[in-house]
Amino acid sequence: MCSVVGYIGKNKSRDTVLDGLTRLEYRGYDSAGFACIDSETKHLVVAKKIGQLSNLKQSLKNQSSDGFLSLGHTRWATHGAATEQNAHPHVDCTSSLAVVHNGIIENHTSLKKILEHEDHAFKTETDSEVLAHLFEQYTIDEKMPPLQAMQKMVEQLEGAYAFCIISEHYPDSLFIARKGSPLCIGLGEGEMFVGSDPLAFTDKTNRVLFLPEKSYALVHKDGYALYDFSGNVLSVQSQIVDTSWIAGEKGDHEHYMLKEIYEQKHAIDKTVRFFQSIHTTIFDYLGITQEELQNLESITFLGCGTSAHAGKLAQFFFEQKAGIQTRCELASEFRHKTFFKQKNHLYIAISQSGETADTLEAIRLVQEHGQATLALTNVASSTLVRECDGFLLTQAGPEIAVASTKAFSTQLAALYWLAHCVAYHKKSISHKQFQESETELFTTAEILENVIEQYKHEIMMDCAPFYKKYKEFIFIGRHNSFPFAEEAALKLKEISYVFAQAYPAGELKHGPLALVDEFLPVVIFSHPDPVIYQKLLSNAQEIKARKGHIIVFALEHQKELLSLAHRAFIIPAVPSLLFPLAMTGIMQFFCYALAKVSGHAIDKPRNLAKSVTVE
Ligand code: AGP
Repeated sequence: MCSVVGYIGKNKSRDTVLDGLTRLEYRGYDSAGFACIDSETKHLVVAKKIGQLSNLKQSLKNQSSDGFLSLGHTRWATHGAATEQNAHPHVDCTSSLAVVHNGIIENHTSLKKILEHEDHAFKTETDSEVLAHLFEQYTIDEKMPPLQAMQKMVEQLEGAYAFCIISEHYPDSLFIARKGSPLCIGLGEGEMFVGSDPLAFTDKTNRVLFLPEKSYALVHKDGYALYDFSGNVLSVQSQIVDTSWIAGEKGDHEHYMLKEIYEQKHAIDKTVRFFQSIHTTIFDYLGITQEELQNLESITFLGCGTSAHAGKLAQFFFEQKAGIQTRCELASEFRHKTFFKQKNHLYIAISQSGETADTLEAIRLVQEHGQATLALTNVASSTLVRECDGFLLTQAGPEIAVASTKAFSTQLAALYWLAHCVAYHKKSISHKQFQESETELFTTAEILENVIEQYKHEIMMDCAPFYKKYKEFIFIGRHNSFPFAEEAALKLKEISYVFAQAYPAGELKHGPLALVDEFLPVVIFSHPDPVIYQKLLSNAQEIKARKGHIIVFALEHQKELLSLAHRAFIIPAVPSLLFPLAMTGIMQFFCYALAKVSGHAIDKPRNLAKSVTVE
């Protein structure tokens, strides 16, 4: 998604801003831009390029422009195509000020009309350009002091935004504002950094001020002044952020995705050990009291994509282990539905990044209704952590590849642990059973890794070249292997661009079976439960009878199912609730290998972004 970086201070800043953009590059973008107030000419200089950040860096190599006040942006196109013209920064009619923006200005059409009436000439198809002309209108045409102009702007803007403005008329000031989209200031000595994520500047400072929702600020080299949207001065504590959150290197791995697949055993171990370490103080994290937890009757998970799949799988943990009625809602749909306030209910938002706009909006809606919210995320400094009543942190470490791998498996481990923790506090299980669940997680993590090791050569050398020719896949499962099939289909789609659809196995004969012939591989994720297994076996026979090509992930003793398969992967036995976790590594590796033989940009698939900060 789009990233914003800014700098004001004692040093020339072009490289700092470009480095900041490089750190946020993994989030995905299709154009990049830079602007500064040139220290020699004192005028605004802007450079933009479509495609990779390296194109922008290359174009700047031949220019000497640099300054003590600058901005950078990577854009993921929403309003207007990915062209150089539409790339940020955007300038006003006089080309003396520049704006970078994340989010969407929803009322840009009406604002543009008003501004055009005032003779402003627009050059792009973007919603963001109105910001440049509004600031121009107020500070240049109407000669309003800049802070007054900022307040007037935020009063009118609808939608979500984090934006920064530099102007050659105010060479000692950087103007920033946020509503709905994250923005923070890195506090240095005689220099200040701005970023949509602290990762942009954590090599320079770990002191960070997260702008509160609906606030704007004037930033200068020695400090800042922060205001709410009514113009009242705000006083907010800065925080020290964990600088280990700097993107790690790929090491010997060809892709971050592969590295992250291999890191899963360690990440699960770390997550479970971390949870063990906070167990005695768990009520400091959950945002609800022990009594509220004991009275808890139902839970709703909210999330998108892979995180929603983790929630769907965790439904089974909470219902089976803690006896709590649980549902999982896609955050992007949730806010359009009728809200039913419930007693003794907890909303758990699941998000790797903690910045997914749909998930944040869903949580804000829940909070408007006064219901309890808990975040499960991988990023301690995220907006989700700040906005929810409680938070739990997975310990996956930075996940750089767009396709989520270790974030998913650590979410599953965390939720399995939490379900047992709730069950223990509700006195549904003993302390011993709680401890056994932790051992089950350690064992499953080991199996996850061993299965990859066992099959990785076969998948890479034999499977992937063979399946390269197929353009569509169906994934099926039953009970908890169905949401797992959904995750597999998502994984394959996003990195290999092969169409993949997941169905609950029982639904096949209600329609999708019509698609089945020898040209369509059907991937079956088995289940340890004998009754569920028998049903899956019948589904496999139905596919076989239509000459479908079957790939099976099953237990060793599930001989009949294995014998129907053209290709089979055997998964060692684990508790049935954890069977999807045991299959996670090999499923991801299978999808990775298929994308690799097709030569795709695995870590940054086309059209996608790591952190989806627009709704
Ligand atoms: C996962 O492979 C995807 N890239 C995507 O579905 C992701 O899980 C989703 O955008 C939610 O992200 P979050 O966990 O950071 O909220």
